[in-house]
Amino acid sequence: MDNNNLEQTLVLIKPDALKNSLTGYLLSQISEYHTGMYFSALKVLEVNEMLAGEHYAEHRGKPFFPSLLEYISGKLHYPDNPNKRRVIAIVYQGPNAVANLRAIAGPTNPHAARDEKPGCIRALGTVVPIFEGEKMIGQRMDNLIHGSANLEDAEREIKLWFKPNEIPPKMQAFPTVQSD
Ligand code: RTP
Ligand code: MG
Repeated sequence: MDNNNLEQTLVLIKPDALKNSLTGYLLSQISEYHTGMYFSALKVLEVNEMLAGEHYAEHRGKPFFPSLLEYISGKLHYPDNPNKRRVIAIVYQGPNAVANLRAIAGPTNPHAARDEKPGCIRALGTVVPIFEGEKMIGQRMDNLIHGSANLEDAEREIKLWFKPNEIPPKMQAFPTVQSD
């Protein structure tokens, strides 16, 4: 495996995609047949507040942050069914994995996605107003999929979401050491 083939990114299939049964469509869009990239690890997990907050730490303090945590933890899409609150996390690998996945996902805002890149995954998303009492304080963007923004974020996020032993040894891109 050459170094470029070792590039990895973190993909999350978010709760709105699961709720709308778009999982199969998303997995097909990112299949090796279509993209030349492939899965190195995959799991389904419940996202607690700590993981959500660490994952989106760069947005802490912004008006939409609390609602972003509720979104990624599944509380908004499964308010009455906590057992279904989950995301699918994937380590996705191949040449230019970070940039390629972002291109397939499309712009963050689903309205922009529909305008600028019809057919991309996020063109199927929704924008929801966030209210504080009567006052609209921002917007939530339910955009179905996450992809790391750059190589540095990819490393941080893969280490946050996956333990080394959840990735097959020959597909581990980052060095590990044995812990006592
Ligand atoms: P993501 O991290 O989820 O893949 O999305 P992204 O890189 O395209 O966008 P980012 O700026 O990292 O934002 C993370 C998530 O926060 C929500 N967001 N809302 N109301 C707003 O202005 C706003 N900006 C971002 C979106 O759900 C976005 O996916
Ligand atoms: Mg981001």
